[in-house]
Amino acid sequence: MFRRHKITVIGSGATGATTAHLLALKELGDIVLVDIQEGVPQGKALDMWESGPIEHFSMKVVGTNDYALTKDSDIIVVTAGLPRKEGMSRNDLLKINSEVVGGVVKEAARLSPDSMIVVLTNPADVMAYVAQKASGFPHHRVMGQAGVLDSARFRTFLAEALQVSPRDISAFVMGGHGDDMVPLVRYSYAGGIPIEKLLSQEEIAKIVKRTRTGGGEVLSLMKASAYYAPASSLAEMVKAVLLDERRILPVISYLDGEYGERDIYVGVPAVVGGHGVEKVLEVDFTEEEKAMFQKSVSSVREPLMLLNLDLKG
Ligand code: LAC
Repeated sequence: MFRRHKITVIGSGATGATTAHLLALKELGDIVLVDIQEGVPQGKALDMWESGPIEHFSMKVVGTNDYALTKDSDIIVVTAGLPRKEGMSRNDLLKINSEVVGGVVKEAARLSPDSMIVVLTNPADVMAYVAQKASGFPHHRVMGQAGVLDSARFRTFLAEALQVSPRDISAFVMGGHGDDMVPLVRYSYAGGIPIEKLLSQEEIAKIVKRTRTGGGEVLSLMKASAYYAPASSLAEMVKAVLLDERRILPVISYLDGEYGERDIYVGVPAVVGGHGVEKVLEVDFTEEEKAMFQKSVSSVREPLMLLNLDLKG
C-alpha cells in the first residue's frame, strides 16, 4: 500500500503560507498548516485547498491551531517566529524566536518522531541548532534553510549580469545566513564555465555584496521580510527529502569535525535525500575563503553561546 506524504508547515505567515501553497502546487503531499493565531491557518489553508480544482492538485490542505492534526508527518517545516523588521539584524530575533522554535518543535516532534525537520526561522543557523535540541532527533534529520535562498539570489544576479537564464547558473553560498555569508565565486559556473572567465572581478565583487545583503534589500523596499524566494527554497528542500533526490544543496547542517568545526549548525554543501543530510561535502578553500568562512562561523557561534541553551528539560 502506498500513501501520500504528509507535510506540516508551522507558521501561517507570509512565508509559511506561500510554502504550503507551493508544496500543494508541486503535489508533494497533504499539508497541515499550523499557527497559534486562531482562524488564520484555517482560512489560508481552505483558500489554498480551493485552488486545487483549478491547479489540478489532489492534495488536501488543512489549517489548525491543534498539533494533534500534525501526527505522523513525514516532514516538518518551521517558519514560526517573528520576521525581521527594518533596521534589525537576524540576531535581534534570537531570544524570542528560540523560545518559539523550541516550543513548536518540541510539540511537533513528539507527534511525528520519525520525521525530518527543516527550519527557516531566523537566525536560521542558530534555530536549526535549537530545533535539533528541542526534538532530540539525530542531527542528520534536522536541517536549516538559507543556502538555497542565498544561492538563488547569487544565481539571479549572475544571470542578470551575463544576460543568460538563471537555470544555467550553478553557484553556491556557504557559512551563516548573515551579511558575512560566503558566496564561493571559485565554485560558481555558468553553463559549466567558471564565472571568473565571464565577468570582471569588479562585476563579481558587486554581485557578491548584493547577495550578502539580499534579504536586507527586499526588506528595505517593502518594509517586511522576503517570502517568495524563501518559500521556494523551502519547497526545494522538502522535495529533495520526500523524493529522495540526493540533491547537492547548500544547507544548514550540523558539523561534527567537517571544516574543522564541531557542535554547530551552519551552511555547507551537502547531499540531501530521504535520510535528510546524507553527507556534508568538504571543498578546498583558499586562505581568503577560509578566513571568510571562519568569520561567518563565529557570527553563528556568538549568538549560540549567548543563548545558553537549556532546552533539554
Ligand atoms: C531573507 C530572510 C528570510 O534572507 O532571512 O530574506
